[in-house]
Amino acid sequence: MTALVDIAPVGAAAVELLSTLHAGSFCKAGDERWSAQAFSDVLGMPGSFCLLASVNGHDGQRPVGFCACRVAGPESELLSLGVLPQQRRAGTARQLILRSMGRCVEGGAREMYLEVAEDNPSAQMLYRSLGFFQVGRRKAYYLRLDNVKVDALTMRRDLR
Ligand SMILES: CC(C)(COP(=O)(O)OP(=O)(O)OC[C@H]1O[C@@H](n2cnc3c(N)ncnc32)[C@H](O)[C@@H]1OP(=O)(O)O)[C@@H](O)C(=O)NCCC(=O)NCCS
Repeated sequence: MTALVDIAPVGAAAVELLSTLHAGSFCKAGDERWSAQAFSDVLGMPGSFCLLASVNGHDGQRPVGFCACRVAGPESELLSLGVLPQQRRAGTARQLILRSMGRCVEGGAREMYLEVAEDNPSAQMLYRSLGFFQVGRRKAYYLRLDNVKVDALTMRRDLR
């Protein structure tokens, strides 16, 4: 099922909200958290942007997910992506990525890269379903809060 989500770019005024959504999405024990400052730093990088996904509730727009990306010449990178647990499997992440890819193409990118933890099969399936494939591995790339080291798989796809 594809949910009716509204997806829009957000700027510096949304860094607290983005940090809250990050913490709510990366909610497994040991997951690293991105602070508001981390999102500020990302948004301060040339070519970067964040998209916010919201659904319409009885009390107005409710933020449920985000995607952070960066364009650098012909390359773009998906830096972080998260959807709140109660909103999952409704197509929100897919829509966030598709919109992000569109913006990256508009910014001149011809390919997109991302890193995903080896122990995150849900995200790997999501990316594979969108045409990404593994092109590398970074040993012990993620250091979890519980000090466990996890490899990252580097994935890429053409954007045109
Ligand atoms: C990974 C994550 C972003 C997916 O968000 P989502 O909105 O539930 O994903 P979607 O509904 O758009 O899923 C699209 C497709 O991805 C795949 N997928 C997503 N979650 C999956 C899961 N738990 N198991 C298997 N496949 C999954 C499926 O192919 C799915 O299509 P389908 O529902 O028609 O079968 C979300 O689970 C999340 O925030 N996880 C924690 C943070 C995280 O891992 N971020 C990515 C780090 S690289």
